[in-house]
Amino acid sequence: MKITGVKGMNDILPAAVGRWHEMERLAREVFHLYGYREVRTPAVEHAALFARGVGEATDIVNKEMYVFEDKGEELLALRPEGTAGTVRAFIEHGCHVEGLQKWFYIGPMFRRERPQKGRYRQFHQIGCEAFGAGQPAVDVEQIALLADLFSRLGVTTDLKLNSVGDAACRPAYLASLKGYLQGHAGALCADCRDRIERNPLRVLDCKVESCQPVLQGAPRLLDALCQGCKDHLGAVTSGLDALGVAYRLDPRLVRGLDYYTRTAYEFASDALGSQSAVAGGGRYDGLVETLGGQPTPGIGFALGQERLALILEAIGRAPPEQGPAVFFLSADEAGAKEALRRASQLRKLGIACDLDPRGGKMKTQFKQAERVGARYAVVLGGNEAASGEAKLKDLATREELPVRLDDLAERLRE
Ligand code: HAM
Repeated sequence: MKITGVKGMNDILPAAVGRWHEMERLAREVFHLYGYREVRTPAVEHAALFARGVGEATDIVNKEMYVFEDKGEELLALRPEGTAGTVRAFIEHGCHVEGLQKWFYIGPMFRRERPQKGRYRQFHQIGCEAFGAGQPAVDVEQIALLADLFSRLGVTTDLKLNSVGDAACRPAYLASLKGYLQGHAGALCADCRDRIERNPLRVLDCKVESCQPVLQGAPRLLDALCQGCKDHLGAVTSGLDALGVAYRLDPRLVRGLDYYTRTAYEFASDALGSQSAVAGGGRYDGLVETLGGQPTPGIGFALGQERLALILEAIGRAPPEQGPAVFFLSADEAGAKEALRRASQLRKLGIACDLDPRGGKMKTQFKQAERVGARYAVVLGGNEAASGEAKLKDLATREELPVRLDDLAERLRE
């Protein structure tokens, strides 16, 4: 019986991988420009890390997390996101003593969501986290970094910004929001009614049409912010204005993870349809302490690579695949040996080349040369092997020029 891949977990085939290389190359370049260093943490963590970090009441932990008992000993989880594990590593290695830390990561995440376009069960994030600075300048710098990355990729996005308050102002706001929602529960969908007690902020994010009139009339957290949060938001918006980063204040923007304080934001793209968020992030000033570390402010974001790949495809940005410089075709046994020898020499000199180990018909070998995107082809047989002379064929123009095989590397470098 044929065994298929797991639903919602995708293969990225060689023909598509160029876009992934491109986004990762640019992301690494931009992170370097902004002083972020790479961290690599495991894909598996203790399930309790996410329950405590991301929040027990969130859909991510409550409904979507892959949790398993490791041989009946420990309850582990496939990471549904990168922040909690990064914070765990930061605490475990005592990194707070090193002052401000700016880290980034690239890797797979897992959520058992209902698969649809732009939503998968294994997906990949490019993310970053900055620890140790509560100043709004970090928020501004990080949002500008992400805007910079999108602009280098030629991708147009919409930035939505909000403040979700902090321990000083959110409790009173949540109480008034709950009161309001309870008063209008009859006009809300079942999901919303279910969330009023558990996670009232998430009700604001409901997309169901019939809920919208109630949600539009709901008290706004932006109006209930304490002075500290108001000042912080004001400094973030004026910082973005100063850098020319366009944004829209969205008082109903809430995020699906519980750790956020103050700044929360999302970048969306029209090219994506219903799963329009290509990146999201925000500040989490209490998370390090919640997970057992020294009180340390933090802020970060994550970008969904599958969604970015969909956008790059939609806008027709396909970085050219880098084929080999030359492809050796063999006319006979002696030619096949010579091809292997010459290919090995060129590869040692750092020149990419390829050959068809199956030999066979010239037409088939030429097809293979074109399929792998080779720039030139050289046919080798007993005569060429003996004389050291062959023809260098430009596969684009079909032009053929004589070449001494010993000069091949030099000619290709030209
Ligand atoms: P998030 O909003 O849950 O935030 O995910 C960030 C991005 O990951 C989303 O905007 C989306 O592009 C992508 N994504 C999420 N779920 C899926 C899925 N099922 N399929 C495909 N793509 C998906 C976080 O994960 C936070 N850790 C971000 C953060 C870092 N906040 C602070 N630091």
